[in-house]
Order: sequence, then structure tokens, then C-alpha cells
Amino acid sequence: MASLPSLHLSAVVPAAAVLAVPTRPGEPTELVGDVPVDVTGLLEREKAKGEPGELVPASGTGDTRVFLLGTGDASAASLRKAGAAIVRRAKGSASLALDLRALDLTAEALHGLAEGLLLGSYGFTVKEVEPRELREVTVVVRNAKALAPALARALVVARATATARDLVNTPSREKTPAWLAAQAKTLLRGLTVRVRDDKELRAEGWGGVTAVGMGSSRPPRVIEATYDGGGSRHVVLVGKGITFDTGGISIKSNDGMLTMKMDMGGAAAVLATLRVAADLKLPLKVTAIACAAENMPSGDAQRPSDVIRQYGGTMVEVLNTDAEGRLVLADAIAYADRVLGADAIIDVATLTGAMPVALGRKIAGLFTNDDALARQLEAAAARSGERVWRMPLVEDYRVALDSATADLRNIGDPRLKLNGGSITAALFLREFTGGRPWAHLDIAGPAWSGSDDEELTKGGTGYGVRLLVAWLEELARPARKARRTA
Ligand code: BES
Ligand code: MN
Ligand code: ZN
Repeated sequence: MASLPSLHLSAVVPAAAVLAVPTRPGEPTELVGDVPVDVTGLLEREKAKGEPGELVPASGTGDTRVFLLGTGDASAASLRKAGAAIVRRAKGSASLALDLRALDLTAEALHGLAEGLLLGSYGFTVKEVEPRELREVTVVVRNAKALAPALARALVVARATATARDLVNTPSREKTPAWLAAQAKTLLRGLTVRVRDDKELRAEGWGGVTAVGMGSSRPPRVIEATYDGGGSRHVVLVGKGITFDTGGISIKSNDGMLTMKMDMGGAAAVLATLRVAADLKLPLKVTAIACAAENMPSGDAQRPSDVIRQYGGTMVEVLNTDAEGRLVLADAIAYADRVLGADAIIDVATLTGAMPVALGRKIAGLFTNDDALARQLEAAAARSGERVWRMPLVEDYRVALDSATADLRNIGDPRLKLNGGSITAALFLREFTGGRPWAHLDIAGPAWSGSDDEELTKGGTGYGVRLLVAWLEELARPARKARRTA
């Protein structure tokens, strides 16, 4: 499992193995310690422009390696990049200091920087010896006291994101539904966590989770956890928690399942987000539901053409067992509607291979029946750097889910040749929302990164945590104001 370096603010430059000094276009000379450095000359020689993340080695003083670090416009996004760049270069050194006294760091910008520093240095290994070298990162600023709350928030968010990455990166041999439930209990200590095992799921009628899970010798679990910070609204976050997706009897190719340990990335994101909501004491009531099951082919597995009864009674004809995510999510969404009476439901799921075909690996598809929710999530995406793109719930395609024998098919009827697999998946989920404000984030693209890339590291990205936290914070804002004036 991963450990992050410790990160603190300081008013003075500490002794460190690596020292970074910011460069912005048009700044002539900087002091490194007390040594003046001809920044313009150096940048010219290196053909650098001070763009975010650019690194130019400068003459060191004593045992310290010095870098000029491009910080661009010093925005949160630029500093996120810069933080990730320098922390990668400092990998293998014990300590890193960034002397940013020349910048007027806003709280938002420091937050971005801290995310870059912490998440960019994330690494996952199952080897006995943790190869972490970089232990200590110090950011030197003039207004350390004013920036302390922003740093504290960044630490909470980065830690939770790293935990989500750990959950995704853990191999599925270890990562059973029961394991995920145990991890959730540890992560969410202090909160109400209820785990339903397969017996309870069967008894309560969670037919989607049960059907998907029955092909595996390692039975399913539904993890329901609540943080109640007061306030009048109850938000329910639902996560797809397929601990491995072989496709079931509709089996995938070997290549198709190579990254399918990530198919619980949605569950990881909602559980980690709940941790953050509690740590930040947001004045909201938030429930996270993680639907954990392993989609395996076996003599006990569900068959294409089986008919199942979802939570709440909707009958579904399962025509492709590889469209399993919507089956487990549908139970939880129906439960959020009928039992929890959610004021808003957001599901997060690595749902369709078609999503990264449409949007690539850096953007999640956002489907919603509520324009206000769409605007809020788009604003949260802009603030957090976790991007979304709104996708349409095309009414004309709904007919593709009509079944002759049941209420719904679990895949769009290929004979209609309407295509739009991500859209029909979203339309399927919408059937279970009871018309409540609902958003579906298809994170099949951004849940996984093929390489180290800015603050992302190869493997699980923890996508969704930063986005959802930004959204929850914005939701909590009016409530806070009201309390202050009350
Ligand atoms: N977990 C997959 C979707 C996926 C694919 C996520 C690639 C990330 C990367 C999902 O369960 C699935 O298999 N979906 C099918 C649906 C189809 C059978 C209608 C797909 O997208 O092929
Ligand atoms: Mn599948
Ligand atoms: Zn899946």
C-alpha cells in the first residue's frame, strides 16, 4: 500500500536535498538561498519559458540540487502540474523544499500545488520493501498561517484519493467483495457502516447484485455507509464495485479483462469521498453505497436470457452478462429512491467501454435528468480539475431497452441498430431513479491511467473523489452561510 510524503508549510527555507525556485516568464533574477541566479539567462540557454512543470537545473549550493520550476500563471491548475513535475524529479531524494515566497499564493493555488506534490508522488507496490525515498516536502511561503487551512484540506483530499487508488490497484486475487467491505469499515471508522452479505441481499431482494455475484465463489456485498453532518438534504452516492469483471458467461477476451480489477473504481471513489465529507465536517447528510460483486463465469453463473428481479420489483432480461454494472447499480439506485428518499443520487461507475471511445481517458461522461445538477457538477469539475462532459439521455433510444418478456433488457436491442451503448446504459439506470434528481458519471475512461501523467500515476487514478468533494463543498456552502446568520 502507498504512503505519501509529509507536507508542510514554512516561513523559512529548510535544508533539503532538492530545492525548487519558481520561474515565471519575464522575471529576471531570483535568489536561491542568498545566491542570485540569472534566471533569464538560464531559461534562454535551456529554451525554457517558465511554463507550468518546466524544470531547469540550476547550480546547486552545497548538497542541495536546485531547480528552476515553471509555475506559469500560478493558478491551481498550473501549480498542480508544477507540483507533480518537481516531486517526480525529486523521487529518490529524502527531502524537497519549494521556495515560493516570490509568488502570491492563493489558498486555491496552494491546494492545487499540494495535490500535485502528494498525488504525483503516489506509488503502489505489493513488494515487501516500500521504495519510498521522498519523506518530507516543505513549501516556503510568506503567509503560512493564512494558507494552513487550505493545506489541511488538500491533505485530507489527497490521502483519500490515494486510498481510492490503493483499492483500485490491489489485485483482484486479494480484492474480494468481502475484502472491500472490510477495507470500507477500516477507512470509515467512526461512521455508520452496514454491510449486507449475500444472504441478506437475497432476503431483501437485491436481485441485480445477487445475479451478478452468483458466478463467483466469493459472494457479493453491499456496503452502505452514512455520514450525517446535519443539514436538510440527503445525498446518496452509489458506486459500481465489480471487484473483477471477466464478463461472466458473456466472457471478455484476455486483453479485454487485463485492467478489469479497476471495475470497482466507482465504489472506491464514493467510499473515499465519504471519508473526506466526514473529515471536513461538511454540514450535509451523505450516504455512500458500494455494490461489490465479482463477475465470473462458472456453473453457478447467470446465463444470457435469464430474467432477474431488481430491488423494488423491476424485471430485467439479462441478454449480456458483461453488462453487469447496471444490474448492481440499479438495485442501489432503487433503494436510494424507495428507502432512503434521497434528495439527489449520483452514481459513479466504470460502466461502458464506449465511454472512453467517445471522450478519451481524461474525461468522464455526465448523464443527468437535472440541469441544475449538471451545472453544479460542471462547476465542480472546473474547480477540481477532474473533467466531465455532459452527454444526452436520448429519448429516441429508450425503445432499445424494451423487452417482450420482462420490463427491460439489460443491453440495447442490437437489431434496432441505434448504438450509443453509453447512452442506453444511462437510460437503463434512469428507470430506477423514481424521477429524483440523479446524475450518472461513467468513469470508464478516467478511472485508470496508462502512464504517469501530471498528478496521475499509472494505474488507478482515484478519479471522482476530488470532483465529488468539490461538489459536496459547494452544496454545503449555503447551509453554512445560513447557520452563520442564524
Ligand atoms: N466494466 C465494463 C466497462 C469497461 C470497459 C470499463 C473498458 C473500463 C474499460 C462493463 O462492465 C462492460 O463490460 N460493458 C460492456 C457493455 C456491453 C456488453 C453492452 C462494454 O462496454 O463492452
Ligand atoms: Mn462487464
Ligand atoms: Zn464492468
